[in-house]
Amino acid sequence: MRLTSTFVAAAATISTASAGYKGFNYGANFLNNQAKVQADFEYEFNAAKTLPNTNGQFTSARLYTMIQHGTTNTVISAIPAAINTNTQLLLGLWASAGQANVNNEVAALKAAISQYGTKFTNLVVGISVGSEDLYRITPTGIANKAGAGAQPSELVNYIKQVRAAIKGTGLASKPVGHVDTWTAYDNSTNAVVVQNCDFIGVDAYPYFQTTMANSIGTANKTFYDAYQTTINRAQGKPVWVTETGWPVTGPQSNQAVASAANARIYWEDVSCSLIKKGVNLFYYTLQDNQWGTASPSFGIKPAGDLQQVQPAFNLAC
Ligand SMILES: *[C@@H]1O[C@H](CO)[C@@H](O)[C@H](O)[C@H]1NC(C)=O
Ligand SMILES: *[C@@H]1O[C@H](CO)[C@@H](O)[C@H](O)[C@H]1NC(C)=O
Repeated sequence: MRLTSTFVAAAATISTASAGYKGFNYGANFLNNQAKVQADFEYEFNAAKTLPNTNGQFTSARLYTMIQHGTTNTVISAIPAAINTNTQLLLGLWASAGQANVNNEVAALKAAISQYGTKFTNLVVGISVGSEDLYRITPTGIANKAGAGAQPSELVNYIKQVRAAIKGTGLASKPVGHVDTWTAYDNSTNAVVVQNCDFIGVDAYPYFQTTMANSIGTANKTFYDAYQTTINRAQGKPVWVTETGWPVTGPQSNQAVASAANARIYWEDVSCSLIKKGVNLFYYTLQDNQWGTASPSFGIKPAGDLQQVQPAFNLAC
C-alpha cells in the first residue's frame, strides 16, 4: 500500500506540473459584427482541438461575455457548443458597460446554470468578472474606447454580485477572478480588486509595450518580466495567462515586427515554456480576422474555413 500511494503521489505531482489549461480567447461575434451561433462555436472549438502538432491539448475556451451577441440576456451559444465538444470554460462577464449590463450578464449566467445544469457547470474552470476594465479607465486605455471600463470599487461590487449569484449552485465552488493587463495589477490603487479574487488573469503583449525594449529577441524576457510583476502583486493568488501572443501581420510597434516567423519564435519561447511550467494559458488567438481585417492580426490561422486553412506557423513545442 505504501509503495502504491507513493507511486500515486509521484504520478499526481507529474501530472499537476503539466496540467495547465490550454486554450484560446473566443469573441461573441465575427469582425462584421455577425453573432457566432452554436455551430460556429462548435466549429472553432473542434478546430482548436485538431491543430497540427499540439497533441489535441487546446481543449479550453475563454469567453468575454455570458450573453449571446445582439440579445439582451440570452445565454451565449458557446455554452451548448462547449457541452457538445467537451470544452472547458473560463467564463467571462463583461464589466465595462455599467451595472445594468452586469445585471444582464448575471441573468445569463443564472439561466445557463438552470438550463444546462451539471453538463455546463462541470466544464467551468473559472469565472472572470471583467476583462481589462481597469486598463480601460487609465489615460492609455481611454484611447482604446472599447467601453467605459470600471473603477476598482465597481469591480469589487460586481465580484460580490457574482459570488452571490452562484451561491448554492453547481458553480459555487468555482474560482471567481478578474482579467486585466499586467500594468493594471502593477498599480497599487487596484490591489482591492485582487484582494476580492480567487485568481487573477493577466494579459501581456510585448508587441504593445512600445516604451520598452520589445523586439522578438527580448520578447521572452519582456513577457516574463510582466508576468513576474503580476505575481508580485497577486497577494499569493494564482496567476493565469489569459491573453498573450505575437502578431502574424500588422504594423511595426517600436522594435516589434509582426510576422509569422516571429510569432513562431514567440510561441516556442513563451507559449511552450508556460505549457511546460503548467501555467494556465489562453493564447490570443486561434483566428481573429474572419469576415474583416484585423490589424495587427494575432491569428494562428488566417481568415477562411477554420478546419481547412493551415496555421501560419508551426505549433510544435
Ligand atoms: C491607477 O489605477 C487607478 C484606478 O484604477 C486609475 O484611475 C489610474 O489612472 C491608474 N494610474 C495609471 C498611471 O494608470
Ligand atoms: C523564457 O523565460 C522563461 C522564464 O525565465 C524561461 O523559463 C524560458 O526557458 C525562456 N525561454 C527561452 C526560449 O529562453
